[in-house]
Amino acid sequence: MSELNNIALKILENGKGILAADESTGTMTKRLESVNVPSTPENRLLFRETLFSASSMTECIGGVILYDETIKQNTSKKNKIPELISNVGSIPGIKVDTGAKVLAGSPEEKITEGLDGLRERLKEYYKLGARFTKWRGVYSITKDYPSKLSIQANAHALARYSALVQECNMVPIVEPEVLMDGDHTAKDCYEKTSEVIKKCFEELILHQIDLKGIILKPNMILAGNKSKEKLSNDEVAKLTLDCLKNSVPSEIPGIAFLSGGQSEIEATKNLDLINKHNNTNFIMSYSYGRALQQSALKFWSKDTNNLVGTQKVFNHRAKMNTLAAQGKWSKDLEN
Ligand code: 13P
Repeated sequence: MSELNNIALKILENGKGILAADESTGTMTKRLESVNVPSTPENRLLFRETLFSASSMTECIGGVILYDETIKQNTSKKNKIPELISNVGSIPGIKVDTGAKVLAGSPEEKITEGLDGLRERLKEYYKLGARFTKWRGVYSITKDYPSKLSIQANAHALARYSALVQECNMVPIVEPEVLMDGDHTAKDCYEKTSEVIKKCFEELILHQIDLKGIILKPNMILAGNKSKEKLSNDEVAKLTLDCLKNSVPSEIPGIAFLSGGQSEIEATKNLDLINKHNNTNFIMSYSYGRALQQSALKFWSKDTNNLVGTQKVFNHRAKMNTLAAQGKWSKDLEN
């Protein structure tokens, strides 16, 4: 088994998933301000350190995606953040893209930047303890979009990123996120997601990526959040499985979904049904940001000294999602 395959499998073994705590300072500021907590480096660190020291980390969280600021911060006990994460048996990872910018040639769409100087940044992150990375391409669905240009350009960037990451002996998370914003149908989401994922793999293969050493982080197949269409969770699970079965090469060790604005319970329930119906050989787990942190953040914001209480709330969500990643979740476990 290759070293990269080994890392990918270790991150996702036994129902473990990924905590996406890699919000940029801008996004984290919005999240903190929405619960009336000032966004200082100290507060960002305190909230994140609280989650990374929670007891569920060892059993449930195989990897944590960090942001540049956090990977360089020290804990209150003067340990490095990546050490704190590896000491509890999880693997530190790092977001390496520098964000989605206007796509020249199709200005209503986005292209993710961050390739310049990436080889050098990767070496630095490896030294800091990172063993996997993340890059997110983002696509909207409208009558005209995503355009062929955005599908091609983002796939190319994801492949060049992945090649540099594997060259540096880390596992790239390949995240093509087809957004749920809009009034599109689930069928539109299915078709566009298939097209986006197929193009990503075409480029990954062209760039000589070891497919056994990546993790795919896709969206689930959902109707747009402004659509009148109401899908059952079972339908979401079946469409998602069908779409991935037809667009993802079988060598991939695992798939870790993003939550993309679903509520915590929806994200857990859909993941559980995906696993209950899973007729593929892929591990199907989670790499959630909001759907793992939302209620913990809300709880913490009411009393930022109550770290144990905050960890309890986080532990519960992490456990529910790890059960869902094995198809063992049920609603009554939420109480
Ligand atoms: P959400 O689960 O909140 O969508 O975040 C996942 C992520 O990492 C987006 O890039």
